[in-house]
Amino acid sequence: MTNKQNDRMEEIVSLCKRRGFIYPSSEIYGGLANSYSYGPYGAELKKNIKDLWWKTFVQTREDVVGIDGPIIIHPKAWEASGHTEGFNDAMVDCKECKSRFRADHIVSESTGKDLEGNLEALDNALAKIKCPNCGKNNWTKSKFINMMFKTEMNGYNGGVYLRPETAGAIFIEFKNVLDSNRAKIPFGIAQIGKAFRNEIVARNFIFRLREFEQMEIEYFISPKAKWEKIFDDWLIKQEEFARLIGIDKKDIKRYQHPKEKLSHYSKKTVDIEYNFPFGFAELFGLANRTDFDLSSHSKASGNDLSYTDPQTGEKFIPHVIEPTFGLDRSILAALCSAYKTEKVDDGERVVLKFPYAIAPVKAAIFPLLKNKPELVKKAKEIFADLSQQFMCEFDDNGNIGKRYRRQDEIGTPYCVTVDFDTLQDNTVTVRDRDTMEQKRISITELAEVLKSFPQQK
Ligand code: GAP
Repeated sequence: MTNKQNDRMEEIVSLCKRRGFIYPSSEIYGGLANSYSYGPYGAELKKNIKDLWWKTFVQTREDVVGIDGPIIIHPKAWEASGHTEGFNDAMVDCKECKSRFRADHIVSESTGKDLEGNLEALDNALAKIKCPNCGKNNWTKSKFINMMFKTEMNGYNGGVYLRPETAGAIFIEFKNVLDSNRAKIPFGIAQIGKAFRNEIVARNFIFRLREFEQMEIEYFISPKAKWEKIFDDWLIKQEEFARLIGIDKKDIKRYQHPKEKLSHYSKKTVDIEYNFPFGFAELFGLANRTDFDLSSHSKASGNDLSYTDPQTGEKFIPHVIEPTFGLDRSILAALCSAYKTEKVDDGERVVLKFPYAIAPVKAAIFPLLKNKPELVKKAKEIFADLSQQFMCEFDDNGNIGKRYRRQDEIGTPYCVTVDFDTLQDNTVTVRDRDTMEQKRISITELAEVLKSFPQQK
């Protein structure tokens, strides 16, 4: 990372803590490595992105339904999906300073070569690479570790796993959804939820976490379908979703995994990468998982997970196109895209230019002066009314200029000020976050005006 990129990342991390978006977790106990809590505005932002995703891919599509499965599913499911055996990353320790690294990451950072999965090649490359922490060259041999978190569950000897991807819970409920919803292929099952991976090194703020959230769709198709077209359509839909959360087209690029790097279940994988302050990295992914999962679960469970076409009577195991979205990475990309610093008359302002749909607070309501009860009363009445319809905030702290800056920093599209004229003519001043223009608007029209501006943002 260049100094400038580093500074930008630090500014965003610091804003997130200062303004209650994201805090390092367990701080009172000295912290827990790369574990974060979403604060009040972060929780709203997260919820808004989830709602937008659900609306885009479930609510407004006739061919996708949503489920909410458990984090712990039968451990045999992870054997069948290949995760118990093959969901591994290579780690290496520096014998001098005891730092631990993901072997393929230090090799690719220093040589540009992607040797993921090849221990021998990694060890050969490491022989010429110095430890990024202490500068010595004294490595252990690299070795694979499984990334699933294991835990105990009464009645299950041998333990169970926290799911490493939400997809698992979708595949095992395929038959239930089919039977209960009379779904016809092609159709998708969507899910939003936590996933857990015991990453060797979690880093880059909320980019790589051990506990994170995914938004995934398993889209079931006929083995005879022209899957390339379906795959390309999903790629476009994923890129459109990136636009909806405020990402500029120029900050997105596609990366197709070379054949030898594909996951054990995939015939084709394309990552949608975002230009994070630390460089382009995976934001969303799209894979053709073929019939790998349903076939494996059929075999391992002894239950027939095939589908019978109601028209032709043809019976087959569906193939799957899987669009997957990291929620925490979407939040980070939305924050990075929205973060702007602008010169203004009294210096500089920091403003988060979120699209309206994901802004944590849609309107802030201010009484011009906090010591004028008639203004406070009117502002509280407006707050009580508007907050029935969308997320609002009442703020009477400091001068109006300071209150505008505070709302800019959390990305609130509109500030509404109640002043003495309000008491006479029932109008308020509405200030637009992006243009900083102010307009006088009648209170009776306020809700409609605030809701109608946003669509263009
Ligand atoms: N079901 C397919 C699957 O899980 P993946 O590429 O391993 O594929 C999907 O993960 C998405 O989950 C990624 O595109 C990324 O956005 C997110 N993700 C993966 N590992 C993550 C981590 N350690 N921390 C935060 N997000 C992660």
